[in-house]
Amino acid sequence: MNKIILDTDPGIDDAMAIFTAMAHPKIDLLGLTTTFGNVSVEQATQNALTLVEMAGLDIPVAKGVETPWVKDLNPFPDFVHGADGFGNLNLAAPKTQPITASAAQFIVDQVNANPGEISLVAVGPLGNLAAALQIDPSISAKVKQVVLMGGVIAADGNVSPVAEANILSDPHAADRVMAAPWPVVIVGLDVTHQVVLNNALFAKIAKENAKVGQFMADASKFYIKFYSSIRDIDGCYAHDVSAVAYVVEPDIFGTIEGEVCVATEGVAIGQTIMSRFDIPYPLTFWSGRPKQKACMQVDSKRLIELFETSMTSDYWK
Ligand code: BDR
Ligand code: CA
Repeated sequence: MNKIILDTDPGIDDAMAIFTAMAHPKIDLLGLTTTFGNVSVEQATQNALTLVEMAGLDIPVAKGVETPWVKDLNPFPDFVHGADGFGNLNLAAPKTQPITASAAQFIVDQVNANPGEISLVAVGPLGNLAAALQIDPSISAKVKQVVLMGGVIAADGNVSPVAEANILSDPHAADRVMAAPWPVVIVGLDVTHQVVLNNALFAKIAKENAKVGQFMADASKFYIKFYSSIRDIDGCYAHDVSAVAYVVEPDIFGTIEGEVCVATEGVAIGQTIMSRFDIPYPLTFWSGRPKQKACMQVDSKRLIELFETSMTSDYWK
C-alpha cells in the first residue's frame, strides 16, 4: 500500500488526480492539503471538501498557504479552471469543515507518525511543502518521496516560454523543495503534454461512474474547451493525475536525474533548471544540492488506462 498526502489546488485536473488516488487499490489517501493556485485557498479548500463529500468519504482536508512565499500573488486562471475551479459549475457549498491543523502541520504530523512511508504528492504551488520543511526540517529524512506535478526541463513552459504554472506561482517555495535532502520526482510538462484525455473518455466515465463521473465529465468540458482553443489537441492534458500514477506505476515513465534549481527572478522566473552533467561549472548554484529525478518519457496508453480504470472501477459502485 502507498500512503500519500495529496497537496492540491482543485482545479479540474486536480479533481481527476484526487478521484484516482481515492479509487486506486494500491493507494491509501491519508488526507488532502490545500493551497492557492488555480483558485484562492478558500475556494480550493471548499472544492477539496466537496470532492470528499461527493465520493462519500471521510478524509481530512487541511487548509494551507494563501499567498506565495516571497513574490506577489498572480491572478487566478479563471479562463483555465473557471472562477470556481470546477468550470463554473457553481456547486453547492460543502457541509463539512477543514481540520484545525494547517496543511504544513498536518504534513509534519503525518510524516513523523509514519516515518519512511509517505509519498507527498504535490499538484499545486509548493508553499505547503516549504512551510512543512520550515516547521520541521527533519521530515526530509522521513518522507518516502516527493512526487510533484510541476516544472519542465526540456519542453516549452505553459505560463512563459520556460516556466510551468505551479512553479511560477511560488518559485521560492519550489526552489526550497528542490534543494531539500529528500527524493523529488518532477512529473512536469515534458510528460504531461504528451498525454491527452478526450471527451469520449469523459463520456464513458460519466456513464460508468454514477457517483462522481457526471461531475468529472461536466467540469472537464470547460478544461477541454480551453486546451482545444490554445493547442492543437482535441482534449485536455493529464497533468495532475500523472503524479498520482507515478506513485503506483513509476515504470510508466522514463526519468533523468540531476541537481535542480528554480529561477526566482528575471526573465526566466519559474524555470526549473537541471544540471545533468558532472561538469565543474564556474557558477555554484547547484553545488551541494541533491540529485532529483525528472520524468521525460511516458507510456501514454498505460497512463490513460490507469486513469480510466480508476474512474470506472467497482470502487464507485
Ligand atoms: C498545473 O497547473 C494547474 O493549472 C493544473 O492544476 C496543474 O497542476 C499544470 O501546469
Ligand atoms: Ca493543480
